Amino acid sequence: MNTQDLIKIEDDYFINTFTRQPIVLDHGEGVKVWDIDGNEYLDMFAGIAVNCLGHNHPKLVKAIQDQAEKLIHISSIYYNEPALIYAKRLIEMTSFDRIFYANSGAEANEGAIKLAVKYTGKSEIISTVDSFHGRTIMTLAATGHEEYHEPFKAVMPKGFINVEYNNIDAIKEAITENTAAILIEPVQGEGGVNVPDKEYFQEIEKLCKEKGIVLIVDEVQTGFGRCGTLFAHELYGIKPDIMTMAKGIGGGVPMGGILATEEVASAFVPGDHGTTFGGGPLVCAAANAVLDAFEEENVLDNVNEVGQYFIDELKKLDKDVIADVRGVGLMVGLELTKPGAEYVDKLREAGFLINCTSGNVLRFVPPLTITKEEIDEFVKALDENL
Ligand SMILES: Cc1ncc(COP(=O)(O)O)c(C=O)c1O
Repeated sequence: MNTQDLIKIEDDYFINTFTRQPIVLDHGEGVKVWDIDGNEYLDMFAGIAVNCLGHNHPKLVKAIQDQAEKLIHISSIYYNEPALIYAKRLIEMTSFDRIFYANSGAEANEGAIKLAVKYTGKSEIISTVDSFHGRTIMTLAATGHEEYHEPFKAVMPKGFINVEYNNIDAIKEAITENTAAILIEPVQGEGGVNVPDKEYFQEIEKLCKEKGIVLIVDEVQTGFGRCGTLFAHELYGIKPDIMTMAKGIGGGVPMGGILATEEVASAFVPGDHGTTFGGGPLVCAAANAVLDAFEEENVLDNVNEVGQYFIDELKKLDKDVIADVRGVGLMVGLELTKPGAEYVDKLREAGFLINCTSGNVLRFVPPLTITKEEIDEFVKALDENL
């Protein structure tokens, strides 16, 4: 079937939730992907900051193939080796003590909020304006976009307060006797790649300790090397009580998770939370392969080196339409003085996949394995098209 006929299937049969780009992708290799007509694209979006090792990474593919031949799914009622090994490996790399496996970012955040509420016995959650935490009803309430809440006001849970990001006074004012948790992204992704001050997070950690509030960092987008450390909160030198993760964790297979300290995790007992698919052998085999690649291929070093190079090169672009260049590691935003949608189209036509968020911020979250040469190719295309 040709592209138009295939896209018509969505028009005819899908529930209408996405505005998609008009290409049908077929296969990929490293940072490149090809559509069914053979057109090549440099993928600066990586499936919304997911494909941390790029496409068709041999170790990841082999791990998935090998595991698929053994066991794909067994449910959370039985043990499986890849999930047990992965938990031990990951926890030993972080300041956390316990893990819960989920399937997506929203589901991880949903569970984290439940855990904080059960641990504290309190019912208010503070999150930030322009944040994004998911599309389930509770994570939508935490998400700081009034326009997303509007159609669902009738069923929106109470107790969620959105305050200005990177403003410690706004958090102080919102805290009450009933505050269970602060849920916050180390860098706001969907909100426009907003990088806060280091002191902001350190103050939040202090406040949480003083007042017995649970600090939940949402590392769904910033985690897994995206910002140059395994998890971005490490950049601020803080130790949260709970962290949520997804996206890059499985290199492309749908996987999420909650990490928590022993103290906070102890609030859950069997029956408080669960999942059918979470922590299955297939996704955990993939996650182990992602960690192997991080260790063996110096992925974090690449993020730091190429990420800084990318930001430096973007800053050299002399265009009236550029209002700001910002980012950490390979989570980079180019704020424009006008809406960015037309540039997404132009660049796609020139062979580059990018995304525009917050209306006027071009967001670049390429595979973490991208090279300086590929960045040069992309920056040249930006220069020609902006
Ligand atoms: C920071 C953050 N949290 C949560 C989510 C939701 O993740 P998912 O789409 O896997 O449910 C996203 C998705 O973009 C995100 O960026």
